[in-house]
Amino acid sequence: MNGQTSETSRLSPAGLPGRHGHVSVEKPKNSKRVIRRLWNYLSREKVLLVVIIVFLLVNTATTLAGSYLLRPIINHYILPHNIPGLIKMAFLLLGIYIVGAVAAIFQNRLMILVAQRAVNAIRADLFGKLQSLPIKFFDSNNHGDIMSRFTNDVDNVSDSLNTSVMQLFTSTITLTGIFVLMLYISPMLTTVTLVIVPLMLWVAALIIKKSKNYFATQQVALGAANGYLEEMITGQKVVKVFCYEKSAATEFEAINYDLRDKATEAQYYSGVMMPVIQNLNTINFALTAVVGGLLVVFRGLDLGGLAAFLQYSRQFGRPVNEISSQYNSIQAALAGAERIFQILDEQPEISDAPDATVLGHVNGNVRFKNVSFGYDAGKTILKNISLEAKAGQKIAFVGSTGAGKTTIMNLLPRFYDIQSGEITVDGVDIKKIQRSSLRRSLAIVLQDTHLFTTTVMENIRYGRLDATDEEVIDAATLAGAHSFISRMPKGYQTMLENDGGNLSQGQRQLLNIARATVAKPAILILDEATSSIDTRTEQIIQKGIDQLMQGRTSFVIAHRLSTIHNADEIMVLENGEIIERGDHSSLLKQKGRYFELYTGQFD
Ligand SMILES: Nc1ncnc2c1ncn2[C@@H]1O[C@H](COP(=O)(O)OP(=O)(O)OP(=O)(O)O)[C@@H](O)[C@H]1O
Ligand SMILES: [Mg+2]
Repeated sequence: MNGQTSETSRLSPAGLPGRHGHVSVEKPKNSKRVIRRLWNYLSREKVLLVVIIVFLLVNTATTLAGSYLLRPIINHYILPHNIPGLIKMAFLLLGIYIVGAVAAIFQNRLMILVAQRAVNAIRADLFGKLQSLPIKFFDSNNHGDIMSRFTNDVDNVSDSLNTSVMQLFTSTITLTGIFVLMLYISPMLTTVTLVIVPLMLWVAALIIKKSKNYFATQQVALGAANGYLEEMITGQKVVKVFCYEKSAATEFEAINYDLRDKATEAQYYSGVMMPVIQNLNTINFALTAVVGGLLVVFRGLDLGGLAAFLQYSRQFGRPVNEISSQYNSIQAALAGAERIFQILDEQPEISDAPDATVLGHVNGNVRFKNVSFGYDAGKTILKNISLEAKAGQKIAFVGSTGAGKTTIMNLLPRFYDIQSGEITVDGVDIKKIQRSSLRRSLAIVLQDTHLFTTTVMENIRYGRLDATDEEVIDAATLAGAHSFISRMPKGYQTMLENDGGNLSQGQRQLLNIARATVAKPAILILDEATSSIDTRTEQIIQKGIDQLMQGRTSFVIAHRLSTIHNADEIMVLENGEIIERGDHSSLLKQKGRYFELYTGQFD
């Protein structure tokens, strides 16, 4: 819709920045609810999940058992010099570790499978939802922000499900297992661990808190850089023509330095975690070794037990480290998931009334009766609009910018629903017609054309999916597009890319007119379809449009009044009200607003 994208972002950015880089700290508002909904996606693969848990338990059990075996190996085989037994035990150990490794591989693969299926379902739901949302949603939300929910947020969820969640589980179980076995080997020695571990956790929490803040500021800086970049890419022509390149480079440099500083801090704090925890762990190891040695000498602790215990206390740091480093990424994923669910919770277009009818043959009698409408409650834009278009008539709208012309035309296809009054097609209230049926009876040609990345043929066929190739070519011929299409390298099979970026604006418009033609609508809406096109191109397009309008009820919004001389009725709109109406000559005679507009243009 031209000029209607409002800047207010209805979707509050809870997590990663949209293109303007607003960010609150990455934290889901309601983690429990988000987790429950994510679980709904994951739990579709219950069997696989059970298998994964089995592998996970096997994997952690082998890690724990491998270390524990040191005890009997030392006590019963090494100390008594039982070499054949020792070799047997070595093979047993090898076997256990192989089983563990295989379990780990399967656990990973399966988890990725489950995670990607869930992410796939989320993406499908998102896209399906997007298709069901009313135009209002797209008009009032930042498109970059919506996109980022498909990309950034889904990626965060995906990464986290792939690895973080599993690691969190593995680490927690390992930690518990290690702790229990430590207690089993020597409760006394475990007290040393109990002194060091809370210290470790405290330091980890401290670092997490610091680094989280820095990560948030890094995200803001990243958002700013991305936003700037996007503006510069989309606005390249403006940048070049006003010679803004140097200033742009300077501005970007500042943003880039800022990002560098923030990223450096964030990385520093997240990088400092590992060595700090490792060092604490080494101290823990040393203390345990000293105290354990004393216990062996004076309290009869078995040497094998001490060896196993030391092994465990060395392993202790890793899960602690992993849990704390996964914390951030899980937070980010939950925040992302929350943003995704926000879209899934958006109100879809209201469904058709149960008794809604399907239009059969449409004649094209359209009537507006005392229609009032505002985009936002409390701000009326259209006031008491009444008009009638008999089948085949051409109704034109003129008026200054912002008068409400486009708004009127948004109402007929029910992009927005009116607040009071009634709009009828062939005498039937459009609220009582199935949306798809209503929309099939009309076609819209806008000033800003839209072409999909596919062939010319398919782009035109978009107007009516069951049209044959002949019908498409006929429509293109009627619209006056056939000759330039034939000159394209592959004719109708030429691929269009980047919204038809390699076509001229007039050619793009001709394809859009052909698309509307193939739809064979009873009602046609043209919103400034020929403005901002040079006069020669306009003549060509006007011919196509005139052909298209033959025998159809047409609503034409035009800035160039020359194109609407022959309209059956012209409505002059100001401030959402029809202030004058009549045909061209009678309006000129009135010497009112239309006269002003007309003479202003043609003097
Ligand atoms: N999506 C929207 N949400 C809120 N207000 C809107 C929206 N679209 C348009 N408006 C407001 O409605 C009024 C009428 O806008 P409309 O687009 O109908 O004008 P127009 O007559 O088509 O103007 P132009 O000739 O510039 O295309 C304007 O004041 C505009 O600010
Ligand atoms: Mg408009």
